Parts: sequence; C-alpha cells; structure tokens
Amino acid sequence: MNNHQDNQERSSLHGQWSSRLTFILAVTGSAIGLGNIWKFPYIAGENGGGAFVLIYLVCIFIIGFPIMVSEIMLGRRGRRNPITSMKILGQEEQGNEAWKYVGLIGLMAGFIILSYYSVIAGWTLHYFKLSIFGELSNLDNETAQSIFGQLTASASTQLIYHTFFMLITIGIISKGIKDGLERSVKLMMPGLLLILIILLLYSVFQGDFMAGVNFLLIPDFSKVTPQSVLAAMGQAFFTLSLGMGCIVMYGAYLPKNESIIGTTTTIIFCDTMIALLAGMVIFPIVFQFGLKPTDGPGLIFLTLPLAFNEITGGYIFSGLFFILLAFAAITSALSLLEPSVAWMIENKSYSRTKSAFIIGLLIWSLGFLTIFSFNILSEFNFCEIRSCNDDWKGTLFDNFDHIASNIMLPLSGLLFTIFASWVMKRKHSMDELSDIPTSVYKLWRFSARYIAPIGVILVFLSAIGII
Ligand code: TRP
Repeated sequence: MNNHQDNQERSSLHGQWSSRLTFILAVTGSAIGLGNIWKFPYIAGENGGGAFVLIYLVCIFIIGFPIMVSEIMLGRRGRRNPITSMKILGQEEQGNEAWKYVGLIGLMAGFIILSYYSVIAGWTLHYFKLSIFGELSNLDNETAQSIFGQLTASASTQLIYHTFFMLITIGIISKGIKDGLERSVKLMMPGLLLILIILLLYSVFQGDFMAGVNFLLIPDFSKVTPQSVLAAMGQAFFTLSLGMGCIVMYGAYLPKNESIIGTTTTIIFCDTMIALLAGMVIFPIVFQFGLKPTDGPGLIFLTLPLAFNEITGGYIFSGLFFILLAFAAITSALSLLEPSVAWMIENKSYSRTKSAFIIGLLIWSLGFLTIFSFNILSEFNFCEIRSCNDDWKGTLFDNFDHIASNIMLPLSGLLFTIFASWVMKRKHSMDELSDIPTSVYKLWRFSARYIAPIGVILVFLSAIGII
C-alpha cells in the first residue's frame, strides 16, 4: 500500500464537519475575534498607522495566504491534532518524526495566547455589563478613562470575568465544538458587521473621519522600523489564527472533496474587511475626542463607549456590540484550546471533559500574570530578569503577546509551509489542491516555497538587527 492510499483511508478521530459551510464558519469564527477589533487598531496605533497597515496587508496576502493553504492541507492529510499530524506526515514523507516539534511550538503559543485572550474577553463582558446597567451613559473623555482605569486596577474584577470566560470555553470544548459553533458564528458575524456599519456611519458624520482615515490609510514610511514590520507580520499571523496549528486542527475535520483555496480566499477576505472596518470606526473617534492612537490595549474600551454615548439608543448598540464581541472571542478561544485538548485525548486517552478541564486550568492560571500586569506587576517585565532591548520593555502582557504572536507563530508558520511545499511530495500537495488549475497550484507552491519563507526570515533578521 503506498502512502497515498494510506492517507485516503485515514480518517479523523473526532468526526468531520457536516458541510463546507461549517468549516468556513469555524475557521472564520477562529480568525475573526479580538484580533480584528481590539488588537488591530491598537497595534496599528502604536506603530504609526498607515505604513503599518500597508505592511500588514502585504503580509496577509503574500505570507498569510500560502501558509493558511499549507496548514489546511497538512491537517487534512494528517487528520490528527497538529503534533500527531506532523509526526505522521513527517514519517510518511521523510521518515522523520521531528516535525512534531513544529506542532508543539504552535500549541505552546496557543497556550500563552489564550491566557491573555481570555482576560481581554473578560473586559468585553465587563463592558457588556456596564452598558446594560446604563453605567456608560453621559460619558466624557475623562470618565471613559477612569472607568477603564478602575477595571484594569482591579485584579478581582478581571479575575471573575476571566474565570467566567474560561469556564464557558472549557464547557463548549468538552461538549465537542461542532454543536453551537455554527449557530453562534451565524449570529455573531452579521450582528457584529451591522453594528460596525452603524458605528462607521457615526464616525463618518460625527467623528473626525478624515483625520482617522488619513492616519489609517496614508503611509508615513518614516515611522517604519524593523520592530513595526515584525509587529505587522505578527498581527497577520494572529488575526488569521496561523502558526498555532488550529487551522491544521480544523483542516483535519475537513472532508476530502472541499476546495482549500476557495475557502481560504473567503476567510481571508472576511477577516481583513472586519479589521479595516474596525480601524475606520475607531480612529475618527480617537481624534474627535482627543485620545491618542498610542493609548494601547484600552483603545476600543476608551473610544467606542464615547461614540455609543452620542448615538440615540446607543446603550442598546453598545450592549449588543460588547456581547457580540464576546461571542466572537469565544469562537476564537475554542480554536486556541481545541488542538491541545485533541492532543491530550489522542495521547493520554483522557476523556474530552477531563482533558478540557486540565488544560483549561493551566491556561487559566497563566492568565493571572496578564491580570497582574495591569496592576500589581505593571512595572515588571522580562527585562527585570535579564537585560533586553526595547521590544521587551512593555508589561508582562506585552511580553507574552510579543513572544507568542511575533516570534512563535511566524516561526511555526514558517516550518509548516516549508513542510508542505518542500518536504511533502508534489504529488501529495497536488492531490490536496486538485480542484484548481495547474497555474494556480504553481503559484501557491512558489509562494509557499519561496515568498512566504523568505518574507518571514527577512523580517526576523531585520528585527534582530542583522539586516
Ligand atoms: N485570530 C483570532 C483573533 O483575531 C485569535 C486566534 C484564534 C488566534 N486562534 C488563534 C491567534 C491561533 C493566533 C493563533 O482574534
């Protein structure tokens, strides 16, 4: 029996998506989340706006696209959690099991990311509560800042919401993610889009729209540093959920006859639109109310309540917005947790519930450090442990995000794509992409072999000062 037949007989241990739509919804649900609405605007703001956005878009298309295709492909051939899939495929293609470590880096990145993701998702739940209790009315710039300041100063409030969010995530994962996922994504996406459009109208007519759009879209290359290029690439990986293995994991549940390129195109399009829309909503409000683009992780929590405050019936939209954002965060959090849980089920033979609780507990505990980084540990960072450069000067939360998003994700993404395009036999990758014309296949292979890896390596080299 050759490898090819071997693969066709391999099926996932956890079932398959019921339809192509479910897969698209699951991956879009994973991709669209806090990364688009919370992280993109604040990282863009911290890195000077327009030029950052341009580099981010370039990274999405020339690095993100081929890597997403590679990851789905690896998952569908491996049909296991990312570590096991890489181990099986490495053995099959090259007789080498060491590729499993790529999956392991990804899983570790997912661990770190979920630990702070859940804390921020907790903030959105808190803002949902504030909205429906009318505590966000009659706001001005100062009150908005003090409400946010109170939240970050209180470790206990953040802990309650963080715990609540982790419990929901663990609960859903222990039931298996298919049920509920489809429904929540179908509800959340149109809802979120609708409120963003309402907010956009507000920004166009009431905000300082031109200042916002100029900031976001007109590149000022004097602001580009190797560090901002690294941040743009990291954000491209983060927003598309790449490098961590969750796309590999979701690919493992994809039926054989679905088009990988087609689904990737849809997902990337939706994800990018939502991020740009969020940016166009936020920055006009930033400038109108005299806030600063560099206000950091609190940016959406400082700006949006001010805008909602001025719209008639704004508190309804505000409540809806924050709860929908929490839903968007849940569908992303599921994808951050699922690969480790699947790994534990497949390797330790624990039940799904037990695995979800064990891993969830570890991630929940790690989240404490993020919570403390906004209050009792706000002065502490990795540079306290050993001397380091400016990249590490932020809070512990910044350090976690930097190491996971800007280093671990691109590194394992790079290795995934090298595997798919250099190690995996041409016949095998062609078989996975059989629905597209040969010219498109060649384009993918060229980007996956050369453009994406060289791009990632150049960005890394320039960030550490070698070029
Ligand atoms: N992409 C999600 C967002 O933008 C977050 C996310 C989900 C993620 N799965 C991931 C980030 C895997 C990195 C890796 O909110």
